[in-house]
Amino acid sequence: MNIFLQHNPTKLYFGQGQISQLSTEIGTKKVLVVYGGGSIKQNGVYEDVMEELKKAQATIFELPGVEQNPRLTTVHRGVDICKSQEIDILLAVGGGSVIDCTKAIAIGAKYDGDVWDLITRKVPIESALPIGTVLTLAATGSEMNPISVISNWETKDKLGWGSPLVFPRFSISDPTYTFSVSRKQTVYGIVDSMSHALEHYFHRTKNTPMIDGFIESLLRTAIETGPKLLKDLTSYDHRETMMYISTTAFNETLSNGTDGGDWATHRIEHAISAVYDIPHGGGLSILFPNWLEHVLEDDPSRAKMLAMNVFGISSEGKSDLEVARDGAKALRSFWDSLEAPNRLSHYDIDDTDIELIIDKTFIKPGVGVYKELDRESVKDILIRSL
Ligand code: NZQ
Ligand code: ZN
Repeated sequence: MNIFLQHNPTKLYFGQGQISQLSTEIGTKKVLVVYGGGSIKQNGVYEDVMEELKKAQATIFELPGVEQNPRLTTVHRGVDICKSQEIDILLAVGGGSVIDCTKAIAIGAKYDGDVWDLITRKVPIESALPIGTVLTLAATGSEMNPISVISNWETKDKLGWGSPLVFPRFSISDPTYTFSVSRKQTVYGIVDSMSHALEHYFHRTKNTPMIDGFIESLLRTAIETGPKLLKDLTSYDHRETMMYISTTAFNETLSNGTDGGDWATHRIEHAISAVYDIPHGGGLSILFPNWLEHVLEDDPSRAKMLAMNVFGISSEGKSDLEVARDGAKALRSFWDSLEAPNRLSHYDIDDTDIELIIDKTFIKPGVGVYKELDRESVKDILIRSL
């Protein structure tokens, strides 16, 4: 293992009814409530949040309309409100897009220039407003991590960034708040959570049996729970399991002691989303198995472990490469069984912009850790995905 520091300051209130903690967490502050396209007004979450904030005697401001793949223009709107109204704390109520937008508003509110300078790392992030979250969709892990992903439609860039200053101070995860998530969006959440676990798994650090076993257990649980949840979208037990999986898959636990894993698939997916604005989980379900098939040809060792320990594939009478290939097929078949997209043509994407997508993938240097990809490798993965 590598040396590591574990320090996650987010207070996680997990379980039914935990919204009752909100009034104490917010108190009498000036709060900006950030939310998306209106699902919280249909499923009762908005009323629960407002009731708690009124109980706390908070002064409430609202920023509705955060897009899926949140946009810089919306971040600007939020920053303007924070500055003009002297907001004390931000409350994100929604999925990853709402939380990520809120994180960007938090740093923009404390900076005199354009927040894009901070997101692009032109200027270091030195301060942020505090944020809390009420999670309504199990997918990204943003409720307990310091990461955010923002799209700039002027430059067609979708950039991930992070700062310890934007760890949520608290997050409220009530599985009943995810009952209304559509089947399609639930599938995307399962795929995104599994991808986070898988990308952590493909690391190069030696002697990591505990963390490898933890990831394998998380993946087996997702494989067992996902199909049951899709048959019964309002099952508390299955929503609860998926919610805990998605938070744990990306709250830094799975990188303890490793080099962090290989996030090339996320880099390529963000590049595609920057150009075509597709759902994140849908992009990953297309790309990850093709990334896996690409890298296992050079080194089948971890794909073989995945095949045996997660999918229960026997190695008897087979070469390492054959077992690894069977593992990649098993992952593809599982996601196919959930009806997750498996080709870019699902989103009407052909090879027209392939060079542009490759350019966007390399917007930051260094793509991949398990295998460092060059432009040709990314092209190979994209062509396999068409
Ligand atoms: O807009 P609203 O009304 O909130 O509706 C949303 C949206 O239409 C809906 N939804 C959310 N909760 C619901 C609900 N519908 C019914 N009932 C509910 N309870 O679901 C749709 C998708 O929401 P969104 O927040 O976009 O999904 P997700 O959580 O998958 O977030 C995706 C974004 O997060 C980024 C992605 O790139 C993408 O921009 N990521 C962020 C990460 C992070 N911060 O750590 C890591 C991820 O890898 C990812 O890149
Ligand atoms: Zn993701």
